Amino acid sequence: MTSLTLELQQVSVYYGNQAAIEQASLSVRAGELMALVGPSGCGKSSLLASINRMTDGIPGCRVSGTVLLGGDALSASQDAATLRRRIGMVFQQPNPFPLSIIDNLRFPLAEHGVPRRERDRRAEQVLRAVGLWEEVKGRLSQSALGLSGGQQQRLCIARALVLEPQVLLLDEPCSALDPVSSKVVEELIVSLKGRYTLLMVTHNLAQARRIADSVTVCWMQEGCGCVVESNACHLVFEHPSHPITAAYCAGAAG
Ligand SMILES: Nc1ncnc2c1ncn2[C@@H]1O[C@H](COP(=O)(O)OP(=O)(O)OP(=O)(O)O)[C@@H](O)[C@H]1O
Ligand SMILES: [Mg+2]
Repeated sequence: MTSLTLELQQVSVYYGNQAAIEQASLSVRAGELMALVGPSGCGKSSLLASINRMTDGIPGCRVSGTVLLGGDALSASQDAATLRRRIGMVFQQPNPFPLSIIDNLRFPLAEHGVPRRERDRRAEQVLRAVGLWEEVKGRLSQSALGLSGGQQQRLCIARALVLEPQVLLLDEPCSALDPVSSKVVEELIVSLKGRYTLLMVTHNLAQARRIADSVTVCWMQEGCGCVVESNACHLVFEHPSHPITAAYCAGAAG
């Protein structure tokens, strides 16, 4: 599959009567990486989770607005499992299934009806893509929980990629990792540009500045989150158009 533009038009996420983020709009070009930054609690994870409808399972959570993939609006009536095949997600805490390394990849392939004879070939392909193959090829049937944190996170990225999504959502994918593993995962994310459209929440402004093509800055205003600026990375950091962006991003200067 090829990467597609991901666009959000005035997306709001509510928990009960309380908005976590309101009227958020942004556009990630096909194959580019956008960083989503902003202080804790301004609704970044909620916004990300709403894109592939992870919010469906939260009682009292309601989402409004439009998500477009390749210019086509996603329908709320579309089956969420099918949507998540197109839009994969990776979380802050590596969360491999408590299964063997290879079964972490076979399982989603089986769930989505990929024929048995193709599963191991696809699994090897993604393990190579995330740079894990050489490290794990001799222990594929051992538990994934025995891997290091950084290896687990690369396995989770592999698990998201094995279904060949067009978009990958990443919620602080490096922040639970030690500096060396964080760098390996960051380099992996950079290597995915072009083939996938990437939207990544990060608290690490220096990381956003290093690797993002564009940046969206969220902020709390009147008790709920909103987008204050969404632009090319160099413009956000060097010529911010909003004083909040200027003050916030000053932390990444130099
Ligand atoms: N399941 C939930 N039920 C009720 N309120 C929630 C739920 N999840 C998040 N919230 C609230 O929504 C708001 C935004 O939370 P969210 O986790 O999206 O912020 P965030 O920007 O990702 O923060 P952080 O940077 O700390 O991860 C917060 O006030 C939070 O308490
Ligand atoms: Mg969050």
